[in-house]
Amino acid sequence: MRLQGKVAAVTGGGTGIGKGVSQRLALEGARLAIVGADVLSSAFNQKGAKNVGGFTAARELAKSLSEGGVSVIAIECDVTKKGQVESMINGIVAHFGRIDLVVHCAGVITAKKVVDLTEEDWDSVMTTNAKGTFLVDQAAAAQMMKQGGGKIINFSSIAGKTGYAGIAHYSASKFAVIGFTEALAKELIQDHITVNAVCPGIVGTQMWKMLARDFALPGESDEQSYQRNVGAMIPQGEPQTEEDMAEAVMFLALSDHVTGQAISVDGGACM
Ligand SMILES: NC(=O)c1ccc[n+]([C@@H]2O[C@H](COP(=O)([O-])OP(=O)(O)OC[C@H]3O[C@@H](n4cnc5c(N)ncnc54)[C@H](O)[C@@H]3O)[C@@H](O)[C@H]2O)c1
Repeated sequence: MRLQGKVAAVTGGGTGIGKGVSQRLALEGARLAIVGADVLSSAFNQKGAKNVGGFTAARELAKSLSEGGVSVIAIECDVTKKGQVESMINGIVAHFGRIDLVVHCAGVITAKKVVDLTEEDWDSVMTTNAKGTFLVDQAAAAQMMKQGGGKIINFSSIAGKTGYAGIAHYSASKFAVIGFTEALAKELIQDHITVNAVCPGIVGTQMWKMLARDFALPGESDEQSYQRNVGAMIPQGEPQTEEDMAEAVMFLALSDHVTGQAISVDGGACM
């Protein structure tokens, strides 16, 4: 229970990596705000697949954690909208009185070669991943400065350290997250606020299920494509898990003297 009494917010906190992080922070004793949005410019909608609903998932997770005795709320917030992000932070402070840790997991991906990318593709991914990080971190920082400290953890990617063919716009957005993280860490160094990023390799969430379909070779199933890509991209030859990401988040949440870092949890993909 190393986060006993701390207040944490997790954006995209009802699904995938964010869900794993939320569950771990709850286990560690944090009081929790699980943040999500049902209206997404995500690849899922564009492909006609089922919209899993980030806020619906956040509410369901909050309900089950609450039944287990966790002090938790679900908050609806589209991270691309400044007003909603500010209301989200204000709502957390109104409910819990403060905010010690913000883990910003919300993000989207689409896969297309640059020659086929539309302006809409570019704007949608850059707006969610890069602008969303700016808005969430800005609102979190303002509150943490008032309190005299805090921790901000963003989610970048191995694609934020190396350019990957077929997802150039996503790579650009995740490079942006790392640059922003470093710059903000410097700005907040005297405010006792650390700002870091986690860079996952491959975690088998809904996001990668969609990518596996996009990256499938003719005749290959989604699962075969997923396994082939793990083999090709991850030197350890196996995917990472939501728990691996939660472990990195815990390390950063407990480290007062680590700031401005982008930590890869990627089975050796970036070194
Ligand atoms: N899965 C991987 O292998 C992998 C690898 C590298 C980086 N990442 C990053 O990790 C983070 C989590 O991804 P994931 O794999 O868990 O996928 P995911 O699709 O399960 O999670 C993304 C979450 O972001 C939310 N979201 C999207 N747009 C939003 C918006 N405008 N406002 C609020 N919420 C919004 C979605 O509802 C969802 O809950 C993302 O930033 C992703 O880019 C994932």
